[in-house]
Amino acid sequence: MFWGCTIAALLCVLAPHTRSEVLGAAEPAAEDHGCADLTNTTWQQYRQRTELQVRYLLLTRDTQDCAQAFSQDSLSKTQLPPHFNTSLQTKVIVHGYRAMGSKPSWVLNLAQVLLRAEDVNVLIVDWVYGASFAYNLVVENYKEVAVQISILINHLQKQGSKLESFHFIGVSLGAHVAGFVGTLFEGRIGRITALDPAGPMFKRADTFDRLDPSDAKFVDAVHTDSDYFGISIPVGHVDFFINGGNDQTGCARSRFASMYGYVICDHMRALHVYVSAVNGSCALTALPCTSYEDFLRGQCEDCNVFKGTCPTIGLSVNSGLTVSPVPREQKVFLITTSSAPFCAHHILVELVVAALDKSAEVEISLDKGNQKVEKRLRLQRDTTVYRAVLAHPSPLCELHSITVRNTGARLYRQTLIQVRSVCVSQLPRREMPLCVNKFDVRRGTPWSHDFVQVCN
Ligand SMILES: *[C@@H]1O[C@H](CO)[C@@H](O)[C@H](O)[C@H]1NC(C)=O
Ligand SMILES: *[C@@H]1O[C@H](CO)[C@@H](O)[C@H](O)[C@H]1NC(C)=O
Ligand SMILES: *[C@@H]1O[C@H](CO)[C@@H](O)[C@H](O)[C@H]1NC(C)=O
Repeated sequence: MFWGCTIAALLCVLAPHTRSEVLGAAEPAAEDHGCADLTNTTWQQYRQRTELQVRYLLLTRDTQDCAQAFSQDSLSKTQLPPHFNTSLQTKVIVHGYRAMGSKPSWVLNLAQVLLRAEDVNVLIVDWVYGASFAYNLVVENYKEVAVQISILINHLQKQGSKLESFHFIGVSLGAHVAGFVGTLFEGRIGRITALDPAGPMFKRADTFDRLDPSDAKFVDAVHTDSDYFGISIPVGHVDFFINGGNDQTGCARSRFASMYGYVICDHMRALHVYVSAVNGSCALTALPCTSYEDFLRGQCEDCNVFKGTCPTIGLSVNSGLTVSPVPREQKVFLITTSSAPFCAHHILVELVVAALDKSAEVEISLDKGNQKVEKRLRLQRDTTVYRAVLAHPSPLCELHSITVRNTGARLYRQTLIQVRSVCVSQLPRREMPLCVNKFDVRRGTPWSHDFVQVCN
């Protein structure tokens, strides 16, 4: 997402929005009784640049619907937070810049899907006081937040938690907070998952100052707004660039859209895709490639750099990779649909035609009942081989038919296209492609072929 606007101007845009979101009770939630929630800062506090305060919410399978709040100071030297189990893994959720989104109800959603998936301690780092004023001032705070978290981790380690049992999930600026915790522990924490790690003021930063693969045993990052709020460079072992990592399907491109739609939809998509992936409805599998353009042009069709297994977004160990050592800063690409559960199947179409006298255009569609996905290809006189990747909600083995239309309506276009072959295969390529050879496509007469196949 991009429109000519500096970060300073952006904050002006965000501020009126923030106001309605952050107005609320000034006092922290009651910590002793009942269930805790994230802190709200008031508009006054927002304006006055409140001091940094770090507190934690703990959720476990025993306390799923009722977060328990505590602070480092409230723990005595030998005490564990109630319900914290040191023999379990701990997921640490770190939110980012607070103005970016409504009261982060997503935090509790993420906690809940994590608990549904695994028996873990979920620690939510609440640094709302300190994350809610101008972005550049918030950035000054992020290392202090990390230092405070490291004090808690040291404490939990003394009580029996293993350093590698900590998995940080950091959103936006929270990803760099997690990265700095990792730096403080010299890369010995288990995992950091970065959800659209913040870009402004970090892209050119030293690796000491931003998230990088040396911060944990495994670092995975999901990029959805790398041309604006997110970072465009790889920061993990595996970096998923969803739909190229810049603009997301279903996010408004118009400045007349709602503030959410226009300003942060792309940025928050990483989180929504992750929540959906953790909740386990379908696999979000990506392929390594040099660029998204090459990926769309079908230049990357396997996961051989990972010895055959392709990485998936979600909780699988090392994102599902079995290769050792895991490569670093590997860019991987996937196409998603515009709404949950976001999964799509990558289908490579290869078209070979006889040399043309004039340029032409074809539209190839892959159909399954009323699910139809189309791709237009412009054919040039000097090229006979074309490749394109399209995303279909159904796997190749469920598709009913392929149709090729000669869409060159104008006079100077080729009237007859002699197709040598059209082949489709699902990526990563594991099986022989399905091919149809030698047919002509005339203008006004679509060519169609029904698949006869079964899914294994
Ligand atoms: C935060 O504000 C919202 C709405 O303004 C309110 O419903 C909620 O109870 C507040 N939460 C806390 C912890 O004060
Ligand atoms: C902590 O987790 C372990 C491993 O799942 C389990 O065996 C143990 O009973 C748990 N302890 C408590 C106090 O729940
Ligand atoms: C997770 O999946 C369950 C079961 O399919 C569903 O009820 C729940 O709403 C999902 N949660 C989220 C946050 O998507």
